Amino acid sequence: MSTYGSFPGSRPRRLRTTPVMRRMVAETRLHPADLVLPAFVREGISEPVAVGAMPGVYQHTRDTLKKAAVEAVEAGVSGIMLYGVPEEAKKDGLGTAGTDPDGILQVALRDVRAEVGDDLIVMSDLCLDEFTDHGHCGVLDDKGRVDNDATLERYAEMAQVQADAGAHVLGPSGMMDGQIGVVRDALDQTGHEDVAMLAYTAKYSSAFYGPFREAVGSSLRGDRKTYQQDPANSRESLRELALDLEEGADMVMVKPAGPYLDILAKVAAAVDVPVAAYQISGEYAMIEAAAERGWIDRDRAIMESLTGIKRAGAQMILTYWATEVARKL
Ligand code: PBG
Repeated sequence: MSTYGSFPGSRPRRLRTTPVMRRMVAETRLHPADLVLPAFVREGISEPVAVGAMPGVYQHTRDTLKKAAVEAVEAGVSGIMLYGVPEEAKKDGLGTAGTDPDGILQVALRDVRAEVGDDLIVMSDLCLDEFTDHGHCGVLDDKGRVDNDATLERYAEMAQVQADAGAHVLGPSGMMDGQIGVVRDALDQTGHEDVAMLAYTAKYSSAFYGPFREAVGSSLRGDRKTYQQDPANSRESLRELALDLEEGADMVMVKPAGPYLDILAKVAAAVDVPVAAYQISGEYAMIEAAAERGWIDRDRAIMESLTGIKRAGAQMILTYWATEVARKL
């Protein structure tokens, strides 16, 4: 006699017998449209520069960035998130190059938008850290602390120039209190009601950002612990989420992704807006490095890491493998 619901009547292995059976019952499927490619563009270079800690990732020239955007479109990727790397001499305490209409990020936004039109969602990192000589995400007060409210004024200006340059979506990533509301107001007051915001809602102060600092030539000494979240905290993310939604976030993001899947699941369960996760530079570097040593199967590890992020609740995933993975899907 067998009873359904317990062994031997119930045998979960029946649904794992063949590849097509497993495919049929899979609960999570990656699709190229889930993916967004983060990309770096560097001012004043004539050839792309490889990022040492991120094999396969480059600081692009204006030209190669346009090519990368076109390749992303052809692969079916939905978006590109742009980061500008200014010439070292253009960095200053206020991150002026970040609000210069002719600054590298604005130039690149116009380039990419002209190239892809509406075939790719063009997103812009809205943060000062690439443009400040101290490397912080905001401006400093006379004691050297990151000054929240003075920084908001810079973000408002940045929002306008990035929207003027053609960004469809802004990604405020500096973790200043009130940044979403200030950016929404700045957009609405300058005729950019249609420009959306992907809020970095839960952004943790993470060691896994290491390779990114190389990628953007960061000037930071010290850390971002007074504005990014403490990895020990979970409830705090729901507080950040409530604030961002109240301030007008169109989409919300959790970052990093892999080490914070519990946070991602909680955020995804709590909202009715699209949820994104950012598989960051260190997550990329770890898999590439282990694969280079022959310690793991690169392609399987990439797919598994992305499937885990989607399974935890992300609809959209920012990943440096976006174009490669989209081609394979
Ligand atoms: C800040 C920003 C960072 C990343 C994205 N936006 C760096 C930081 O917060 O220190 C990290 C992304 C990655 O590591 O891939 N502008």
